[in-house]
Amino acid sequence: MIFAKPSARTRISFETGFYRLGGHALYLGPDDIGIGKREAVSDIARVVSGYNDIIMARLFEHRHMLELAEHASVPVVNGLSDYNHPCQIMADMFTILEHRGHLDNLKIAYVGDGNNIVHSWLRLACRLPFNFTIACPEGYQPDPDTIKLAKQAGLSEIAISHDPMQAVRDADVVYTDVWASMGHKEEADERRRKFEGFTVTAQLMAATGKDSIFMHCLPAERGVEVTDEVLDAPYSIVFPQAENRMHVQNAIMLRLLGKG
Ligand code: CP
Repeated sequence: MIFAKPSARTRISFETGFYRLGGHALYLGPDDIGIGKREAVSDIARVVSGYNDIIMARLFEHRHMLELAEHASVPVVNGLSDYNHPCQIMADMFTILEHRGHLDNLKIAYVGDGNNIVHSWLRLACRLPFNFTIACPEGYQPDPDTIKLAKQAGLSEIAISHDPMQAVRDADVVYTDVWASMGHKEEADERRRKFEGFTVTAQLMAATGKDSIFMHCLPAERGVEVTDEVLDAPYSIVFPQAENRMHVQNAIMLRLLGKG
């Protein structure tokens, strides 16, 4: 497990999960490898492949993830890059399925920054049909090419709005993430000003007009992008959501190892 960034859920879920499958996971932190700095990504890919059956990586630059996958001779699992976070969104969709019992006529409203989480939702929208509405401030939209990709796939309804109240109407799921992700922490104060009105509150949850569920990939900044009242409400499924990271990632790893 190569971590160029900090993590709680991803590290614990992969390490515990792989142990529970009968394997052994090795944690390599930001000071251990220096991927792309101390050593070329392509060299690390070949060296680590020689010792291990799977590489899981959390990296800053998405091009490094692709380079790792290109040069590794074992499967590479993306544990988050600045562009996307696929394991998170696969676990999230599984959690929705577990909670609702089906994925029919699903509307997900994402309120907040158009970040790597949103890119993974958009990419999943190319594989599964659902309605995905993003409410973000002007200037914080997701990557235009990824929006285009999701729209061109023609499977899901994709909408971008700057009005959270309107975006959540009829939503089955209201989802948010921190406003300043890793790599944007120095912009936190400015973002708090620009994201005013985008906090997920009980009033916003009521505006769905449904018995909607609340989701957040965590870690949360309580009182910033979501109130305590919402995060701790009976309709919040953030902790089963976090737990499912492990089960879904185990399924992914078994599949990659040809055992699932
Ligand atoms: N959601 C998530 O990936 O959490 P960590 O950053 O703690 O791994």
